[in-house]
Amino acid sequence: MKILVLNGPNIGRLGTREPDVYGYATYDDLIDVCQKAASKLNVSVDVRQTDTEGRMLAWLHEATDERYPVVLNPAAWTHYSIAVRDACAALSAPLVEIHLTNVHTREEFRRMSVISPVAAGVICGLGLAGYELALQWLATVKQREPREHGGVLSLVDPSN
Ligand code: DQA
Repeated sequence: MKILVLNGPNIGRLGTREPDVYGYATYDDLIDVCQKAASKLNVSVDVRQTDTEGRMLAWLHEATDERYPVVLNPAAWTHYSIAVRDACAALSAPLVEIHLTNVHTREEFRRMSVISPVAAGVICGLGLAGYELALQWLATVKQREPREHGGVLSLVDPSN
């Protein structure tokens, strides 16, 4: 099973980008966390980053065609890109939206995500550990529908 881990604009600058907000972990550290988690979970991951919206859309279309689950940090696109949202809405396997920081404790404009309504779940504020948690969840829900809320359902239905 393959999971795509897709990162939007400026995530490649981690480590030097506003370290007071994003910390000193680098993008290479992010790749490392994902690869280590994947090998523990016995899945393969493909970790990518782009500052170009068209490229991100092509990767999301690829995920749809190949039925890959996706971990997506849409970065700034989170807050305004209907094109990224529409591509996410068409995914054929579950999507986890992720943010390194707790967007709800930051500027007002970061509280609104156009992606969340089409994601199975959202993790924010846990730094790189969030990527590991997202991969863990996706690795165990591979048979589910794109927006089925596995965590919530499993609380009420022990057969899940
Ligand atoms: C971010 C939060 C976004 O608001 C911001 O534009 C980013 C990173 C995060 O990971 O915390 O670039 O997605």
